[in-house]
Amino acid sequence: MFAARFIVLLSFYWLSSCAMDPADPLLVDLPNGKLRGRDSGFYYSYESLPYAEPPTGELRFEAPQPYKQQWTDTFDATQPPVTCMQWNQFTFGEDRLAGVEDCLTVSVYKPKNISRSSFPVVAHMHGGAFMFGEARQNGHENMMREGNLILVKISYRLGPLGFVSTGDASLAGNFGLKDQRLALLWIKQNIASFGGEPENILVVGHSAGGASVHLQMLREDFSQVAKAAISFGGNAIDPWVIHESPRERAFELGRIVGCGQASDSMQLKKCLKSKSASEIVSAVRSFLVFSYVPFAPFGPVVEAEDATEAFITQHPIDIIKSGKFAQVPWALTYNTEDGSYNAAVLLEKQASNGRELMVDLNDRWLDWAPYLFFYRDSMATIKDMDDYSRKLRQEYLGDRRFSVESYWDVQRLFTDVLYKNGTELALDLYRKHGKSPVYAFVYDNPANTGVGQFFAKRTDIPFGTGHGDEYFLIFENLVRGPEMRSDEEIISRNFLHMLNDFVISDNGTMTFGSCVFQDNVGSSKRQLLSITRNGCENLQLESFL
Ligand SMILES: *[C@@H]1O[C@H](CO)[C@@H](O)[C@H](O)[C@H]1NC(C)=O
Ligand SMILES: *[C@@H]1O[C@H](CO)[C@@H](O)[C@H](O)[C@H]1NC(C)=O
Ligand SMILES: *[C@@H]1O[C@H](CO)[C@@H](O)[C@H](O)[C@H]1NC(C)=O
Repeated sequence: MFAARFIVLLSFYWLSSCAMDPADPLLVDLPNGKLRGRDSGFYYSYESLPYAEPPTGELRFEAPQPYKQQWTDTFDATQPPVTCMQWNQFTFGEDRLAGVEDCLTVSVYKPKNISRSSFPVVAHMHGGAFMFGEARQNGHENMMREGNLILVKISYRLGPLGFVSTGDASLAGNFGLKDQRLALLWIKQNIASFGGEPENILVVGHSAGGASVHLQMLREDFSQVAKAAISFGGNAIDPWVIHESPRERAFELGRIVGCGQASDSMQLKKCLKSKSASEIVSAVRSFLVFSYVPFAPFGPVVEAEDATEAFITQHPIDIIKSGKFAQVPWALTYNTEDGSYNAAVLLEKQASNGRELMVDLNDRWLDWAPYLFFYRDSMATIKDMDDYSRKLRQEYLGDRRFSVESYWDVQRLFTDVLYKNGTELALDLYRKHGKSPVYAFVYDNPANTGVGQFFAKRTDIPFGTGHGDEYFLIFENLVRGPEMRSDEEIISRNFLHMLNDFVISDNGTMTFGSCVFQDNVGSSKRQLLSITRNGCENLQLESFL
C-alpha cells in the first residue's frame, strides 16, 4: 500500500517535473538577460541575437567587441536576421545596395524533438564571396525536419566594411573573419542555454563560407570552439580567397568616397569612418571591370605582424606547412562543374548588342582573364600576366574561339582554377603536414536548376553539377527552388546524417550512406569519395579526374 502510493507519487512528480521543465521553451536565460523566441511549427527560432557591439561609428573597421548590454526587458528574438550591408551580385539591375551596417547577430534554430533533451550543434557561415549573401538565404527546414541538430547561423561583416585593409596595423582588415570567430565563441559559451551540446559543435559553410571555415581552422585556438568542420565548395587555398595587394585598393576606395587627401593609413581610416556606410559599400561598383567581375574585390588578407588582434599573419599555405593549425577533423568538397557559377555569367546576352559577354572574351581575354581568375595582383610583371593568360587559353581552348560552342571548356577552366585545383592542392598539403583526419568528396549529380541557369538566364545549355548543387540539398536556396527529385531526397538525408554522425563521433569518423570516408593525412594517394545519384564510391587517385 505504502509502496504503491510512493510509486504513484513518484511518477506524478516525474511527470510534472518533465512538463514543467520546458514550461516555456521560447524563454531562454542568457548572461545578458531573458530572451523570447518564436514557435515556428516543428521547431523553435531564436533570431537576431547580438554577439558583438554594433560595428558602427568608432567601432567601424575595428575588431568586434563582445556584446555587453544587459536587457532589462525580455529581448525580442522573433525578428529574422538583417542583411549585412552589401553590393549584391544576386540582385539584378543598377542598384545592388542592400542591408544595414549594424548586423552582427547569430540566429538559433532548434527542432521540437521531445525524445531528446540536448542536441549536437551545427554552426553555419554563409557564402557570397566575402562580399554578399546572408544567413536568411540559407534555409533550415530540411535540417529542422530531421530533428537531430541545433543550427546556429552567423552574420558577419562583408565587402569593404568587413575586409578593407591597408596592409599595416592601422587598418588591419579581416574584420569579417574576426566577427565569425567571436560568434563561434558566443556559440560555445551560450548554446547550452538553448539545449545545445557545447562539446559537440560542427562548423560548416559553403563557398566563401567554406573558405571561412578553413580560415577559422588555421588558428590553433579553433579547437576550443569546435569539434569538427566541413568546407563545401571553397577553401582557404582557392585563388579568390587571400587578397595580395589590399593597400592600393584601400586608398582607391578612399579616393572614390572623398578621402583622397589621406596620406597615411590612420588618416584614411579616420576619413572612411566619417563617411556613410552606403557610400562605402556602393563604391564596390567602381572595382568591377564588367558585370560582377571580379566577384571578390575585397576579402581576407595576411595581416601585418604587428597588427593587434590579428586573425592571421601568414599565408594559409605557410600556416599549413608549419603544422600550427587546429587539430580537428575536417572535410572539403568540390562539384564537377563548380565553375558554372562564374562561367554562366558570361552567357547572359548583353542589352546593348544581344551578344553573349563570352564572345567579347575573344578580344578582351588579356584584359579580363586576370580579374576572372584572380591573378591580377600576384604576377611580377605585365608580361608574366599576359603569358599566363595565353597559357590558360591555350590549355583549355586550344585554337578555338570563345563562343557558346566552347562553353564547357570555359566552364572547366573556371572549375579548375577557382575550385578544383585548390582542393587538390589543399589535400596534398594536408597529406604531408596534417595530423587530424582530412576527408574530401566530389559531387556529380546535376540539379534541375541551379546557379548556372540563374545567371545565364537560359535553360538551353546543360551546366552539369554546379556550385551549390550539393549544399542546397542541406540548406534550401531559392536559386534552385524547394523541390527535390527522389534521388536528391535520399542524398539530402544522407548529408544530414553525415553531419550528425560527424559531430557526435568520438573518433572523427565521417560517413555518407554506406561509405566511410578515408583519411588523406599520411596517405600516399589522394582519398576522394565520389557521390552521384547512384550512391557513393571511395576513390584513390594519383590526380583528380
Ligand atoms: C528525434 O530524436 C531521436 C533521438 O535522438 C531521433 O532518433 C529522431 O530521428 C529525431 N527526430 C525526430 C523527427 O523525431
Ligand atoms: C589543374 O590541375 C590539373 C591536374 O590535376 C592540371 O592538368 C591543370 O593544368 C591545372 N590547371 C591550372 C589552371 O592550373
Ligand atoms: C569509430 O567509432 C565508430 C562508432 O562511433 C565505429 O563504428 C568505428 O569503427 C570507429 N572507427 C575507428 C577507426 O576506430
